[in-house]
Amino acid sequence: MTGGPGTNQKPATAARIYDYYLGGIHNFTADQEAAKAILAKAPSIVAIARANRAFLGRAIRYLADSGVRQYLDIGSGIPTEGNVHEVAQQVVPDARVVYVDIDPVAVAESQELLEGNPYATAVRGDLREPEKIIEHPQVRKVLDFTQPVAVLLVGVLYFVPDDAEAYPAMERLLAPCVPGSHVVISHGTVDGEPVDERQLQSTTDIWRRQTATPLSVRSRAQIERFFGGFELIEPGLAWLPEWRPEPTDPADFRDEPWRSRMLAGVGRLP
Ligand SMILES: C[S@@+](CC[C@H](N)C(=O)[O-])C[C@H]1O[C@@H](n2cnc3c(N)ncnc32)[C@H](O)[C@@H]1O
Repeated sequence: MTGGPGTNQKPATAARIYDYYLGGIHNFTADQEAAKAILAKAPSIVAIARANRAFLGRAIRYLADSGVRQYLDIGSGIPTEGNVHEVAQQVVPDARVVYVDIDPVAVAESQELLEGNPYATAVRGDLREPEKIIEHPQVRKVLDFTQPVAVLLVGVLYFVPDDAEAYPAMERLLAPCVPGSHVVISHGTVDGEPVDERQLQSTTDIWRRQTATPLSVRSRAQIERFFGGFELIEPGLAWLPEWRPEPTDPADFRDEPWRSRMLAGVGRLP
């Protein structure tokens, strides 16, 4: 799928840039160019993508071990190693999983991977329009909102830079959740460590200019606000590598976890 006639004009997207960083093949020339430009400004981005993916895996294992049977993964990306249904279904074989992404390539690849899996599906959706996701017939077919659901927003909320859009969308998305539901969030931040403002600005400029998905980072307090009435479970909102670490995690930020530049947490609705 890389390059090829007619593909060069596609705008870069977050899903395909992330796929490039994780070593995937579902990315086009524009994605590779944007990915390399970001990499030149922020060389740790590949390790951050790996750490984010590892956090996702640990969070799903934690949830599945706690008995969570339903997952709504929003901004799920292009399928790669350690997909949510694979991790969850290892523990709960009939765990239900719905993948949602704004990028049609991510959705098509997910649908192909899930063919024949009665417990998992992928639909196109935009987290800024939560009702359309919740009411989607395929989502309703797989998930039962009268039972607890884990809603995942891993590495996606910073693609909704406008607070006036992001917070109300989250509230509406989590509104149908019954007690015992969970929300999983990871989000880029500038809190807690010295930041090179110029480097940050030029990186976000590339996202704005060269991709279909502009990005912005938020403070710890702003990220915590997304959890609403969900109570953060131990260890709270933590740097990616510090959220319930496992021996098999990537070693990238072991000594300086704040260099992962993303905070992550899991909340539970009491
Ligand atoms: C960095 S990737 C994260 C993938 C996956 N959640 C993970 O952590 O491995 C971000 C994903 O969010 C998707 N995305 C961006 N804005 C979105 C929106 N408004 N609604 C749904 N998905 C969105 C992108 O297409 C991309 O696939």
